[in-house]
Amino acid sequence: MSERIRVLLSEEEVDRKIKEIGEQISKDYAGKTVHLVCVLKGGAFFMCELAKRISVPVTMDFMSVSSYGDDTQSSGVVRIAKDLDQALLDKNVIVVEDIVDSGRTLSYLLNILNERKPASLALCTLLDKPERRVVDVNVNYTGFQIPDEFVVGYGLDYAQKYRNLPYIGIVELD
Ligand code: IMP
Ligand code: MG
Repeated sequence: MSERIRVLLSEEEVDRKIKEIGEQISKDYAGKTVHLVCVLKGGAFFMCELAKRISVPVTMDFMSVSSYGDDTQSSGVVRIAKDLDQALLDKNVIVVEDIVDSGRTLSYLLNILNERKPASLALCTLLDKPERRVVDVNVNYTGFQIPDEFVVGYGLDYAQKYRNLPYIGIVELD
């Protein structure tokens, strides 16, 4: 089976949106330091671009989680494969994700991070598929709401491929 990628959001659209979110975060956190927490691997491209657009001081940390379940459905039970290096205590934390789908992974993860007593905890996602939501998650910053299609690029993969595309595309199987 071969696959083609149809552009859903162009590189220019994504870049413009990331700039807007960066400006908004800079306003909302004026006078503070923002601690960005990247959820690997998908969140990495977005977080790096976003960090460059934030004008208040930024610190960064990375974590990797895997969700038990099959390829298309996450169970919501999250295993921390790589934990953060730094404590979150009293930090203004923004979790940066590629996409919120069912919401299971994020809701579980936010609960874990909240127990570490950050000064504040917000969620920023490049993409949101609201139609797919099973568990309520409070998203503070959303790049784009997209339809229920499987997308790749800007960190998102299909069988580990296409993360490096500078745009968001829909995978079409022939
Ligand atoms: P959730 O727990 O269902 O919200 O799972 C979200 C995770 O599923 C994301 O962090 C992605 O890793 C993955 N995911 C969901 N939708 C897509 C998609 O359209 N393309 C690639 N990965 C996706
Ligand atoms: Mg992810």
